[in-house]
Amino acid sequence: MKVLILNASPRRYGTISQAVERFAEGVQNSCGYDFSEDVQVENINVNDLKFAHCTGCMQCRKCGTCCLPRDDAHRVAEKIEACDVLVVAAPVYWGNIPGTLKTLFDRMVYALMTESRRGIPQPLHKGKAAYIITSCSTPFPFNFFCGQTSGVVKALKEILGTAGFKIRGKVVVPGTKAKEGLPIRTGKFAYRLGFSV
Ligand SMILES: Cc1cc2nc3c(=O)[nH]c(=O)nc-3n(C[C@H](O)[C@H](O)[C@H](O)COP(=O)(O)O)c2cc1C
Repeated sequence: MKVLILNASPRRYGTISQAVERFAEGVQNSCGYDFSEDVQVENINVNDLKFAHCTGCMQCRKCGTCCLPRDDAHRVAEKIEACDVLVVAAPVYWGNIPGTLKTLFDRMVYALMTESRRGIPQPLHKGKAAYIITSCSTPFPFNFFCGQTSGVVKALKEILGTAGFKIRGKVVVPGTKAKEGLPIRTGKFAYRLGFSV
């Protein structure tokens, strides 16, 4: 089983990066042994990637790939095609996902969906599992009432849902300004998300 994690936080030791570490640990613990050939976890930081912006040419809808010169967006698209489980971990930026992650997803439309003749999206990852991890500085319950973390969840549900992924769980960490690190309970991310291998 291949678990692909896309970490969209530029902060190496920030909330999202810690949460991703815990998630990977949780997967490891739920397996009961160190990662083996059976379970491979790959953690990609979106901020380390080099890729061009989508030009909106729509050619990918016809030819099933992106016509721009090969870059990291093509490489991540291949990894998404090969993965069984996708984890998208993103901090809230302006009530939404960070621009880097949105730019990456804009480049990977062809790897996530096709279109019917009339332009109706057809998912390419039907039935695969996805998990969402997000955090924001707005404390609970204001993150909820002011649509902060829900903006990220909505955006990712749109992308992942259209691609056919089934969102199996989400972890929301609000109020990060007042907190040092993650609350202890997040140590069991994978269990809480119902992750099992
Ligand atoms: C450019 C930028 C925009 C942000 N916008 C919001 C926001 O709209 N709402 C919010 O609650 N927090 C916002 N934040 C705060 C982050 O979501 C918060 O600090 C988060 O925990 C960062 O996660 P990280 O440490 O893993 O990067 C913003 C932070 C940055 C840098």
